[in-house]
Amino acid sequence: FRRLGLRGMKQRLLVVANRLPVSANRRGEDQWSLEISAGGLVSALLGVKDVDAKWIGWAGVNVPDEVGQRALTRTLAEKRCIPVFLDEEIVHQYYNGYCNNILWPLFHYLGLPQEDRLATTRNFESQFNAYKRANQMFADVVYQNYQEGDVIWCHDYHLMFMPKCLKDHDINMKVGWFLHTPFPSSEIYRTLPSRSELLRSVLCADLVGFHTYDYARHFVSACTRILGLEGTHEGVEDQGRLTRVAAFPIGIDSERFKRALELTAVKRHINELTHRFAGRKVMLGVDRLDMIKGIPQKILAFEKFLEENPDWNDKVVLLQIAVPTRTDVPEYQKLTSQVHEIVGRINGRFGTLTAVPIHHLDRSLDFHALCALYAVTDVALVTSLRDGMNLVSYEYVACQGSRKGVLILSEFAGAAQSLGAGAILVNPWNITEVADSIRHALTMSSDEREKRHRHNYPHVTTHTAQDWAETFVCELNETVAEAQLRTRH
Ligand code: G6P
Repeated sequence: FRRLGLRGMKQRLLVVANRLPVSANRRGEDQWSLEISAGGLVSALLGVKDVDAKWIGWAGVNVPDEVGQRALTRTLAEKRCIPVFLDEEIVHQYYNGYCNNILWPLFHYLGLPQEDRLATTRNFESQFNAYKRANQMFADVVYQNYQEGDVIWCHDYHLMFMPKCLKDHDINMKVGWFLHTPFPSSEIYRTLPSRSELLRSVLCADLVGFHTYDYARHFVSACTRILGLEGTHEGVEDQGRLTRVAAFPIGIDSERFKRALELTAVKRHINELTHRFAGRKVMLGVDRLDMIKGIPQKILAFEKFLEENPDWNDKVVLLQIAVPTRTDVPEYQKLTSQVHEIVGRINGRFGTLTAVPIHHLDRSLDFHALCALYAVTDVALVTSLRDGMNLVSYEYVACQGSRKGVLILSEFAGAAQSLGAGAILVNPWNITEVADSIRHALTMSSDEREKRHRHNYPHVTTHTAQDWAETFVCELNETVAEAQLRTRH
């Protein structure tokens, strides 16, 4: 924004995402308290400074009454947030159903839920209709808040129908759409019954962004194979109109982590943890409790490591922070019980009267505790089965300035494209390979750790969330300006 001098021009940015960066809790008829929510997109956009940005999204709560809605709207306005009110039925069909039970697993190569396959097929149409209705509700809130010249940046798989709604309303709106998940190979994508309608809608945007070049390439091939359109090096062309498609890898606000490590409260946490785990190496996993994160596979790999390396049994601990998420979706409920069962079995098998090998927590940690944990960790395990980017890997590296711990990273996370040179890359499905990598990481020489850290640390501290947002919005402005020039000539 500084580069473009946009602050001077007072260009406004409307960020539209399913979830607002805060979640709301009702404290009385017209009283609300707000809490920062978890999730990659939230942490990334929190890092963006110096923009006149407003957020439009769902506050994660059902507010059927007008008094409550008015009060919440007022409370959120203080945080530059504008709510979209979704009733329970829409949330059930659009969010739990179409978004989290259909698009999310499909985009992460997990297909449709096995047991529910037929039920999902039967419910598909009503869920897709609810998805379109919900997208229209988000678009309506955008119209109410739109001023000419605003940039509208729609985020993620929840809002693939938005670009069409917005451009149908006003063709001159500047619309960008960004996907935070992988975009799968067109062979997977083309199984989706609503495949063409969604692609055509996304193509209404002026600029379409992905975290990696591969996801962008998959999207362009889906457009060429399914819609028969022409893919160029710039994007997708349809009857002379170009939709720009490009990769914009996200980052974090690394300074925020570095600053936190200097705080007395965080230093105190670090001391406590160091004392608590003295004599043991600390391995860490921080994930939303989601099937894409490969938590059961990670824990099974740790079990294999313990099995094959009995001399390590009381010298290492795995701390797994599993943040509860989408708890109304049956697949997520099953995953929780599965993980508990595996952790219980392994702790029963390898635990002693005084120590257990796995500390598993079903909750999130506050920011300071998380930074301290990152700082004392010797080995971080990010073993997602698929992941759009994965910012935990970035956050860990940012907090490792002095310890220079090792990152074990799934080759199926977008972050592998940027941190691959410094991390130990693994196929998370291969638990023997992950167990071997654990041993390698725990016994790595300080020279090798230093060398690997020298690859990753500069990347994480220079490719920030703020750069990411600036680059996307610059590119969107330029794309629209070029398109206007082309139509004039
Ligand atoms: C992923 C998605 C985000 C989402 C987050 C948390 O990172 O890309 O769009 O907000 O998960 O999931 P939830 O369903 O709780 O919003």
